[in-house]
Amino acid sequence: MALESLHDLYVDELRDLYSAESQLLKALPKMAKAASDEGLRAAFQEHLEVTRGQVERLERIFKRLGERPTGKKCVAMEGLIAEGKEMMGEDAPPSVMDAALISAAQKVEHYEIAGYGCVRTYARLLGDDDAAELLQETLDEEGEADKKLTELAESAINVEAEEEEEPAPRRRAAAGRR
Ligand SMILES: [Fe+2]
Repeated sequence: MALESLHDLYVDELRDLYSAESQLLKALPKMAKAASDEGLRAAFQEHLEVTRGQVERLERIFKRLGERPTGKKCVAMEGLIAEGKEMMGEDAPPSVMDAALISAAQKVEHYEIAGYGCVRTYARLLGDDDAAELLQETLDEEGEADKKLTELAESAINVEAEEEEEPAPRRRAAAGRR
């Protein structure tokens, strides 16, 4: 599709986000299953529900635009999910796996925050105020999810993962190699 105007770019990036969210709907249950910490598992399950609502918001915006939401694959989300999958296949103590899951999830959140920030701004510039409001709601939710993941990481999970670390002498040796 040729991008001849900001409107074209707006629709194209909305399609990218629609694809990203659709891919995430399939990945989140797997991430919840891989999590050991109850709070983290609950956070993934809750974000699955939130993501369903975000998909609906995008569908509403497309309907008003008279455009299809499908037709584009978000290659970035595909890559982020592939990396997460690779990590989930690693052999790691539960708390280290939880820390890895948080890292993967925060990369996803930051990608989405960038994407929604852009389309929200395009919507405002194009005078699509209702869409701008809907996109801002999603942007706020993604920010909250990111904050929640940071809290979980800082409260217990990373501390426990740190305790899983190698004995100090080997750790120093490893650091020295860098
Ligand atoms: Fe999302």
